Amino acid sequence: MATADACDTVELGKTMTMRLRREFSGQDEAGVLYGVGLGPGAPDLMTLRAARLIKAARVIAYPTLAGADSFARSIAADLISADAQEIMMDVPMSVERAPAQAAYDAGAAAIAAALDQGQDVVFLCEGDPFFYGSFMYLFARLSERYRVEVVPGVTSVTACAARAGMPLAARNERLTVLPGPLPAEALRARVDGAESVVIMKVGRHLPKIRGVIDDLGLTDVAVYVERATLAEEVVLPLSQAPVTAPYNSMIMLTKGADPWL
Ligand SMILES: C[S@@+](CC[C@H](N)C(=O)[O-])C[C@H]1O[C@@H](n2cnc3c(N)ncnc32)[C@H](O)[C@@H]1O
Repeated sequence: MATADACDTVELGKTMTMRLRREFSGQDEAGVLYGVGLGPGAPDLMTLRAARLIKAARVIAYPTLAGADSFARSIAADLISADAQEIMMDVPMSVERAPAQAAYDAGAAAIAAALDQGQDVVFLCEGDPFFYGSFMYLFARLSERYRVEVVPGVTSVTACAARAGMPLAARNERLTVLPGPLPAEALRARVDGAESVVIMKVGRHLPKIRGVIDDLGLTDVAVYVERATLAEEVVLPLSQAPVTAPYNSMIMLTKGADPWL
């Protein structure tokens, strides 16, 4: 039976083989795709590397949600060159996976066309690209054919913790990150079995999440954070949270399983 180490070695071997194949076939004349994390919203929470790459980019790509303005683009707006080519990926917000997959297919094809011409492409991603980030769908489609570099960013989770003045996890404490769209029963079981909890993608799921936290008697230790680090930021005890929440909101709670005081 393969052990985790053996699996890792096989995967590493595959990646190296692909890289060597690319080098021998001359495909390294293709451009590089950069998946760049932008942080949670405030432009000065972007890394220096991200800012440097965006400034120099001749081709920029980013997702937009259902025709709305791109949050990722708004974070980087001041750094984007006026004559940069922009590849926009309009990703529909639907429960079915197929429409979003089609948008990522089309986006990957447009990015591949630029890479084939030897142009580097900088893909803008709010927060960190590999933490619930849309960049992973492009990584899955393009990383076997092209050189891809991922630039990590400050996640919304660490930003919300900082703005709420709420340490995430101490010593041996477990941190559980949950998506708000989970059904109420699944959320209840996971929050009940957890120590320190972050619930993301709150938006229209706020009433359900509130109900679960209330049922578990945890409302008093829960905090609501909306649009962290932006001018419109809201940080409130969950009991005082508004009735409706935007997509960029989060609920955090800790049961104090391993107090740091
Ligand atoms: C698709 S995930 C993207 C996460 C992102 N890649 C990251 O590293 O934080 C979107 C969710 O992140 C959270 N989020 C992103 N930015 C936020 C912000 N500025 N304030 C509060 N929550 C935020 C919200 O829960 C939102 O529904």
